[in-house]
Amino acid sequence: MRPLTPVRIPGDGMVVLMGASGSGKSTFAARHFGPTDVLSSDALRGLVAGDESDQSATEDAFELLRLALRMRLARGRLTVVDATNVQRWARRLLLDAARREGRPAIAVVLDLPLALCLERNELRLVHRLPAAAIRRQHRWLVESLPMLAAEGFARVELLRSPDEVERAAVALI
Ligand code: UTP
Ligand code: MG
Repeated sequence: MRPLTPVRIPGDGMVVLMGASGSGKSTFAARHFGPTDVLSSDALRGLVAGDESDQSATEDAFELLRLALRMRLARGRLTVVDATNVQRWARRLLLDAARREGRPAIAVVLDLPLALCLERNELRLVHRLPAAAIRRQHRWLVESLPMLAAEGFARVELLRSPDEVERAAVALI
């Protein structure tokens, strides 16, 4: 049997999940973290607008996300950000918050094949996106990978196949 993939995370840090829609960020978050440790842009859109896919609520949802993130990090609470985070400006806002609170930032990247993300998207009953949006997110993710360490992430944990995701074992350090 192949070994587990260790994903090392400081217990007072910020975990930034990254991946195209359908890469499995929310599934990963639900499997490895407690429900109150996860700040989800979709859930916050739902909180604000009653509909997780209401794009008009995006700005409010991210404002709430950053506010909650800052409050949690100030208390030293491990916090997981469940959003695509494939754009540099989005990561920049999160990294600024972590730096201000003096907490380490870890990227957990679900770098799965585009074809798999598209296939899962087609099978979804809710939150299905146009294929072009997923292609774009995937491209941004791939372009982002070489820059993550320089952006300020203390660690970058790459998960590059469904098998690696399946075998991921979160270890708090
Ligand atoms: P997620 O809903 O976890 O993806 O899984 P995501 O990255 O958070 O997507 P967005 O950004 O919010 O849109 C997407 C679909 O893929 C299935 C899930 O059941 C869901 O239907 N999935 C996820 C798998 O089949 N296997 C996995 O290992 C993970
Ligand atoms: Mg999700």
